[in-house]
Amino acid sequence: MADKKVLFKIKRQASPSAEPVWEEFELNWHPGMNVISSLMEIAANPQTKDGKTTAPVTYDSNCLEEVCGSCAMLINGRARMACSALIDKLEQPIRIEPLSKFPVVRDLAVDRSVLFENLKAVKAWVPVDGTYDLGSGPRQSMQNQEMTYPLSRCISCCCCMEVCPQFNEDTGFVGAAAISQVRLFNAHPTGAALKQDRLAALMGDGGIQECGYAQNCVEICPKDIPLTQSISQVAGDVMKQAITDLFRK
Ligand code: SF4
Ligand code: SF4
Ligand code: FES
Repeated sequence: MADKKVLFKIKRQASPSAEPVWEEFELNWHPGMNVISSLMEIAANPQTKDGKTTAPVTYDSNCLEEVCGSCAMLINGRARMACSALIDKLEQPIRIEPLSKFPVVRDLAVDRSVLFENLKAVKAWVPVDGTYDLGSGPRQSMQNQEMTYPLSRCISCCCCMEVCPQFNEDTGFVGAAAISQVRLFNAHPTGAALKQDRLAALMGDGGIQECGYAQNCVEICPKDIPLTQSISQVAGDVMKQAITDLFRK
C-alpha cells in the first residue's frame, strides 16, 4: 500500500498573458485524498515528478465542503468542485485545468466576476431598507418554500456557464445561474417588488432567448438545481412581461 502513487498532470499559467504549460506531480496515495488535499500536498512540497522544484500551484478554495463554490476547475475534462473530487474515483493520470471560459488569473485560479456582474444586472437580491426595524418578513407558503429552497443552494461555481454552448463572448448570454436566481427572487414576497426590472434585464441581447435548451447546465450543476425548469418558467414570465409592455405603449 505504501508505494501506491497518484499521478497528476496540471496545466500551469504563470500570469494572465503567459503561455500555459503542463507539469506532472506524483504523490503517495493515502485514504480519503481529494483534489484539493492533493493540491495542498503539492504546495507543501512543490516538486515535479522529475524532481524539479517549481512554484506551488495557485488555486482557489475555501469551505472544503462544496459550499463556497470557489474551487471549480476542470478535472479529467469535467467542470466540477475540486474539494469533493475523490482521488479514488478518478481515472489516472488526473488532468487538472482551469475553467476554460473564464480569464486565468494564475494556474487554476480564474476570474469569475462575469457571474457576479450578471447577478447585479438581474438584481438578484431582496430589496430591504436596513435603516429601521421592519419586523419579521412576510410568511411564505410551504409550497413556495419547497420550490425556492433548491434554487437557493446555488454556490456561484460557474460550472453551468462553463458547459453551456451559448455562454460565450459572441452571445453575451447571462447563463443559467443568473436566470435561476431571477426565478428565486421573483418568487420571494418582498423580492417580487423588482420582478419587472429582473425580467426586463433578461430581454434582448444576452438575455434568456440566447438559451438553446441544450441542458448541459442542469446535468453538471453540483447542487442539482432544476435549471431547465427555471429557464422554462422565467422564459414564460419574460414573454408575458414583453406582451404586457407592448400593450402599455
Ligand atoms: S439549457 Fe443549454 S443553452 Fe440553456 S443555459 Fe443550459 S446549457 Fe446553456
Ligand atoms: S446553478 Fe449550479 S452550476 Fe450554476 S453556478 Fe449555481 S451551483 Fe454552480
Ligand atoms: S472549497 Fe468551497 S466548494 Fe470547494
